[in-house]
Amino acid sequence: MKAEFKGSYPSNDLLPAGDFPEFAFIGRSNVGKSSLINMLCEHRDLAKTSSKPGKTQHIARFLIDGKWYLIDLPGYGYAKVSKSSREIFGQMIQAYLLEREIMFCVFVLIDSRLEPQKIDLEFMEWLGLSGIPFCIVFTKVDKLKPRDLEPNIEAYKTKLYENWEELPPIFISSAEDKRGRDEILSFIEKVRKDNQ
Ligand code: GTP
Ligand code: MG
Repeated sequence: MKAEFKGSYPSNDLLPAGDFPEFAFIGRSNVGKSSLINMLCEHRDLAKTSSKPGKTQHIARFLIDGKWYLIDLPGYGYAKVSKSSREIFGQMIQAYLLEREIMFCVFVLIDSRLEPQKIDLEFMEWLGLSGIPFCIVFTKVDKLKPRDLEPNIEAYKTKLYENWEELPPIFISSAEDKRGRDEILSFIEKVRKDNQ
């Protein structure tokens, strides 16, 4: 798989016109968006990662095999950045998701170790109301004891069923041991084919 960094942009208005399908990664700061992009691309530091939340502050585009893009978005809900920069990120993410017609699907990343968080549930609610197609990826599953994985995900689904009649596609991932890579890439392939 060939992955090329094609630039990062401080606002949605500055993004070049879309030429190929885009698949975006979103979620709370530090959930592992940039790490997942690197794992999918089998590239150690294509997308910049950090143990400090708030690393990704721009919309970054990575062209894959010259045919489609992975999009790294800034994290939402990081309390330690100023309120004004949180609002700027929020507006940037919202503008991208609402206006980018070439965006085929957004992957909402959720830390597999945590109880359902209000901010993620509200964000998915907003995606649903806005008619934006999305999937869920439970990240960092290598940090869970194997016996906790299934029950954690089942508990999360139960919570989602309080609000949703049908759930979106759900994946698990680990940037450490590459779990989820084949499933996520096959899904992207299928969505691209279905939209041709
Ligand atoms: P922002 O850009 O700040 O919003 O964060 P991000 O969501 O892009 O997170 P990033 O990929 O930078 O990862 C944050 C931290 O979590 C880093 O220290 C990563 O090494 C770690 N991390 C990410 N994914 C995994 C994973 O699957 N397993 C483990 N063990 N650590 C991970
Ligand atoms: Mg990042």
